[in-house]
Amino acid sequence: MASVQFSNLEKNYGTTPVVKKINLEIEHGEFIVLLGPSGCGKSTTLRMLAGLESISGGDIYIGDELVNDLHPIERNIAMVFQSYALYPHMTVAQNIGFSLENLKVEKSLRETMVRDVAEVLELTPLLDRKPKDLSGGQRQRVAMGRAMVRTPEVFLFDEPLSNLDAKLRGQMRKEIKALHQKVQTTVIYVTHDQVEAMTLADRIVILNQGKIEQVGRPKEIFDAPKNVFVAKFIGAPEMNIFALSNEQMFSDFELSNINHSGMSIGIRPQNLFLNKKEVKGDQISFIDAEVTGTELLGSSLHIECKYQDKKLVVETATIDTSIKGDIRLYFNKTQTHLFDQNSNTIPR
Ligand SMILES: Nc1ncnc2c1ncn2[C@@H]1O[C@H](COP(=O)(O)OP(=O)(O)O)[C@@H](O)[C@H]1O
Ligand SMILES: [Mg+2]
Repeated sequence: MASVQFSNLEKNYGTTPVVKKINLEIEHGEFIVLLGPSGCGKSTTLRMLAGLESISGGDIYIGDELVNDLHPIERNIAMVFQSYALYPHMTVAQNIGFSLENLKVEKSLRETMVRDVAEVLELTPLLDRKPKDLSGGQRQRVAMGRAMVRTPEVFLFDEPLSNLDAKLRGQMRKEIKALHQKVQTTVIYVTHDQVEAMTLADRIVILNQGKIEQVGRPKEIFDAPKNVFVAKFIGAPEMNIFALSNEQMFSDFELSNINHSGMSIGIRPQNLFLNKKEVKGDQISFIDAEVTGTELLGSSLHIECKYQDKKLVVETATIDTSIKGDIRLYFNKTQTHLFDQNSNTIPR
């Protein structure tokens, strides 16, 4: 396992910059998730690290070694992609061992290496099967086995679960986490799915249009997003954020009108309550809103409201789909987020 460092890393396609001076230090053994919307430069960053894409500026280090000009094979990195093509005519064991055969690893050693990887991934009973006789999750594990067998120092995943159905995704998330705890290799994992990021990462790196918006532990980012982009990207339903446009709003949120014009306030749907008793802490305030619709999700209910002509969503465990009309929503003042004119968080 090894540390990884990006220093002012840049990528341009023609004259279009897609990765813009990224600086990041990843500790060895860390599980890092690069999270951001489609097109923000996640895959490009991984591919530059793997040596599959040239870099336009800056440096990449693996351990203490500058790898800018190293061939992919010399970087000792393994990558698992979203679409993992297994060889259909080969067994699981042959698929896993194929790269070793290419590297001319001697047969008995090869067999031992394949068996060890299969053991870790719980594929031992399946070693003689062909891919067509495996489930989606099992195939994904074989793809991981193929990458792991070369005992890489850094493991890269590019949206490896996006082709799986929701249930399997949840299961594979747990398996990948457990696998990381077992092998403790440095992992850099790319996804646009904030749930994957929250559940898997030691630290999340939020990317937006080729730039890092925030780096931090999942809870840190959830509790203290640095700006509106991060606040909206992490958490579902997304944080309610509205411009403070009138005096009523200033007084509802107990802000002085003079100091905060041009600013926005944010509050998560889970932090708005129908009953005052449900609010933790003592800095309790409330707003009055009007119900415009509900959406039942089983164990929770989303209530869509209008507050000062703005849309507001409340998530509650109180299942009452008949709720309508005027409601009072209570909240703890310390659970609101204030943003300045440039969408950056101001400590409250
Ligand atoms: N080979 C290429 N030529 C030109 N533009 C590209 C190429 N590959 C990617 N891009 C562009 O670079 C940006 C970042 O792409 P990518 O790293 O694949 O995003 P992500 O993985 O975050 O969805 C996108 O706008 C994409 O269209
Ligand atoms: Mg991508």
